[in-house]
Amino acid sequence: MKSSLRSSEWFGRTGKDGFIYRAWMKNQGIPDFEFNNKPVIGICNTWSELTPCNAHFRELAESVKRGIYEAGGFPVEFPVMSLGETLIKPTAMLYRNLVSMDVEESIRANPLDGVVLLCGCDKTTPSLVMGACSVNIPTIVVSGGPMLTGRHNGTAIGTSDLWRFHDQLKEEKITQEEMLAFEASMCRSRGHCAVMGTASSMACMVEALGISLPGNAAIPAADARRKVLAQLSGMRIVQMVKEDVKLSDILIRKAFENSIMVNAAIGGSSNFVIHLLAIAGRIGVPLSLDDFDRHSLSIPMIANLQPSGKYFMEDFYYAGGLPAVLKELKKFLHTDIMTVNGKTIGENCAVSESCNREVIATIASPFNPTSGIVVLKGNICPEGAVMKPSAATPALLKHTGKAIVFEDIDDYKKKIDDPQLDIDENSILVLKNVGPRGYPGMPEVGNMGLPRKLLEKGITDMVRISDGRMSGTGFGTVILHVSPEAATGGTFAVIETGDIINLDVVKRILSVDLTEGEITKRKSGLKPFSGIEERGYVQLYQKHVEQASEGADLDFLKGSSGSQVTKDSH
Ligand code: FES
Repeated sequence: MKSSLRSSEWFGRTGKDGFIYRAWMKNQGIPDFEFNNKPVIGICNTWSELTPCNAHFRELAESVKRGIYEAGGFPVEFPVMSLGETLIKPTAMLYRNLVSMDVEESIRANPLDGVVLLCGCDKTTPSLVMGACSVNIPTIVVSGGPMLTGRHNGTAIGTSDLWRFHDQLKEEKITQEEMLAFEASMCRSRGHCAVMGTASSMACMVEALGISLPGNAAIPAADARRKVLAQLSGMRIVQMVKEDVKLSDILIRKAFENSIMVNAAIGGSSNFVIHLLAIAGRIGVPLSLDDFDRHSLSIPMIANLQPSGKYFMEDFYYAGGLPAVLKELKKFLHTDIMTVNGKTIGENCAVSESCNREVIATIASPFNPTSGIVVLKGNICPEGAVMKPSAATPALLKHTGKAIVFEDIDDYKKKIDDPQLDIDENSILVLKNVGPRGYPGMPEVGNMGLPRKLLEKGITDMVRISDGRMSGTGFGTVILHVSPEAATGGTFAVIETGDIINLDVVKRILSVDLTEGEITKRKSGLKPFSGIEERGYVQLYQKHVEQASEGADLDFLKGSSGSQVTKDSH
């Protein structure tokens, strides 16, 4: 049990300092006894009408507050920059690290004993967890929950269908009016994307890591039980402060390994890799790209969810949610890992069971024996590149083809539908300069659309390689996160149209048929990267961002500065 509260450094003081700290809180109509000598719990809220996936978070925060009051704590809600995947330009990923700084400094600078992180849309989860890790006070995550499944003309639809609609519109198989009808039917309730995209993968990640209550990942946002979970989380964080359970007590190496195995079993997003690496870097757990391959190798995919499978997050919840997956994975997981509710992962899923084997299958009879993230190496990507084989076309997992190179996204847009483009289904699309530094911010353009003339021939997939990312809702034989990225002047930067590229997923190889001499010659002719912004955050980002293979955090943000405030101006 903790003997003194961090917040007493503010509210417990006498004289002028205590007067200032308390008096201004009282303008909110709060009497002394509310915050005097009680755990003060921050509710870090990413509510924003510009982040539609998180637009219900004020209501969710009220449920958290009820729980905090009930357990004898004092809640204080505070805003941080919110990242809505759909509206923010050029890409929400550019600001993930900025938000993590906002979160870190907001927690440390204020009289908080514990914090509840309200997370939903893709980047709002890793950014908040990263920031909180760099302070390391008692912390619990409450996710906003997925949307209800979209419905149109009796068909279930979700975000992954957007890519299909786009191709169908391009091929004139559907009309613009039909496209608008899909648009009106897909996002029919509060919550984040209803498939196992990045937001759902992040919600599963926090539950698998043990930093949310069991069941957090899948309860739909519109289901009343989401509010119950929020209230219970509010109650629990007060206890965590009393027990002094910090993030570093839970986020140990084995918890990260569990999370990798779970991401494989659920067919989670490729973005999971980059975010988990960044979180590990903040909490000080050594984790490498190779760990993702190693720990997911023997895990089959047991969740039959879009984009790799058929069903939606709503179905996943009704089938038993993440606890049912954890139960199924028991023989692989480190079941003795402690979680925020004071119980181990093994205890939390002891009585869980899948009640729909179509949605959550067994290890013995999985939905897909192929799962996880594979890490490819070779002269194109000496520090690694990733791909999600479950979302790929099996026949393309071993493939040799001629590169069709796009120097950047504008080049791609200009050429891809040019009838003169010399391309066939065996070609390999290569998109450069969409990496962390080069774009900047590493946008989700890696699953670039196929040329119209091949779509018209009925081609649905090709090998695509880039230094960018792919939406967690995307699919295809897509190789992402090539490190080092083109903007650093590595081999990826010198690939030219017509070069022969070899992909062998079983052997984990991605290489280009060029001699060392030719690569060196081409590198010597490269112009140095000149796209650094002249001012502002983007310049800071470009100068300090690390490669995707390390988590794309800013180099000076790695690690923790703790919760201590050493200077005091009052
Ligand atoms: Fe917010 Fe998909 S756009 S989770």
